[in-house]
Amino acid sequence: MEKQFLTVTDERTGKTYRLPIQNGTVNTMDLRQIKTDPDDFGLMGYDPGYKNTASCKSSITFIDGERGILLYRGYPIDQIAENYNFLETAYLIINGEFPTGAEYDKWSWNITHHTMLHENIKKFMEGFRYDAHPMGILISTLAALSTFYPDSRNIEDPESRRLQIYRLLGKVPTIAAAAYRHSMGLPYNYPDNTLSYTGNFLNMLFKMTEPKYEPNPVLEKALDTLFILHADHEQNCSASTMRGVGSSHSDPFCAVAAAAAALYGPLHGGANEMVLRMLKEIGSKDKVGAYIKRVKAGEVLLMGFGHRVYKNYDPRARIIKNIADQVFDVTGRNPMLDIALELERIALEDEYFVERKLYPNVDFYSGIIYQAMGFPVALYPVLFAIGRTAGWLAQWEEMLLDPDQKIHRPRQIYIGKTHRDVPRLKGKKKSEAMA
Ligand code: ACO
Repeated sequence: MEKQFLTVTDERTGKTYRLPIQNGTVNTMDLRQIKTDPDDFGLMGYDPGYKNTASCKSSITFIDGERGILLYRGYPIDQIAENYNFLETAYLIINGEFPTGAEYDKWSWNITHHTMLHENIKKFMEGFRYDAHPMGILISTLAALSTFYPDSRNIEDPESRRLQIYRLLGKVPTIAAAAYRHSMGLPYNYPDNTLSYTGNFLNMLFKMTEPKYEPNPVLEKALDTLFILHADHEQNCSASTMRGVGSSHSDPFCAVAAAAAALYGPLHGGANEMVLRMLKEIGSKDKVGAYIKRVKAGEVLLMGFGHRVYKNYDPRARIIKNIADQVFDVTGRNPMLDIALELERIALEDEYFVERKLYPNVDFYSGIIYQAMGFPVALYPVLFAIGRTAGWLAQWEEMLLDPDQKIHRPRQIYIGKTHRDVPRLKGKKKSEAMA
């Protein structure tokens, strides 16, 4: 392809520059040559929140937010959700292609055989208060795992990286389930290797005294699909945290703990929890109008609506709406659904939301399904983290293998005081002055 350029004139100096354009971007390092004089540092870009700055090249996930398209490795999310399970999807996201039969057997065997936690990790988890938020438990326990696997610091070794990927995909559901059991005051369940990835997760959550837990196939499939829908979403807040922490060559347990911490916030993965709290606060369908008024007055956000990238219906929300019907056939209809449907109906017609292109995002309906399945609200972001671990690991490895990548270290515009000397400490000895 012919080389393309952006020609800019600096009106401060009258000089003109030709900046190469590659992949629809200019390299902001090319701006540095634009100076008012030789001592000038050079021009930088200013972009808080990285609204228009690409931090990497990636071949994992593609999103067209205007058209509501989401592809993992080129495959549309709805086709994947219909035809594959979560472990196959995790393989695709991390390795670039779906596994062959033999590859899948090896992949799922390895993940299944890394689901156990060291008994000391269980003791560590027991130290949390009974009412500790499970996301706090997950984040801390992931970071603690780094101390159990010092070999994970060997990030340059592909075999070691692969082992940590097995460990993390295997252990995140075990920690998540233990966090839930902890909050309920129940003993932690050991994994059952005869069950599927998601079936085993349900076993670790809900098994009581029965000798063998049999997951409901509809709920198992629904949860597995939810994991698929949450598996990756390109450079979102938690993925870029994973890359940022990983860029200093931290081990992947610490980096995943940091990514989970980013996910916890109510503007990101914590939103599904907030949606349920919002629906509870609204209470009934007839109060939806009044709530929308408060949203428009800027008093509250409509949780589960809006997205930095999607300016159209989030394709995941559409799939989740269909799953909801299947789940409710088993669990009975969640009355929160009527409030959510009414909120969506009004919001999609209202000028405030239409103008700002605010549509339901992935979290708008997922919480209602989780509630119907018996999960406590605080566990919702943890469920999100289970699926997203696949994406974090894929983003981490891609970052490590990308020769363009450097330690993440943004610039700033310093707006504080310029150089000034400290006030003289007249008549006082330094130690007195500090006291
Ligand atoms: N309710 C009401 N108004 C909203 C909402 C909302 N949920 N989201 C955005 N807006 C308004 C903003 O107030 C702003 O209005 P203004 O132009 O009058 O100031 C306009 O829409 C643009 O919003 P921004 O905040 O600039 O959009 P941004 O891309 O920075 O934020 C975000 C995206 C954080 C997701 C936002 O839409 C939001 O807070 N949504 C609610 C929380 C949520 O559901 N998060 C989950 C996102 S999906 C995920 O992470 C898995």
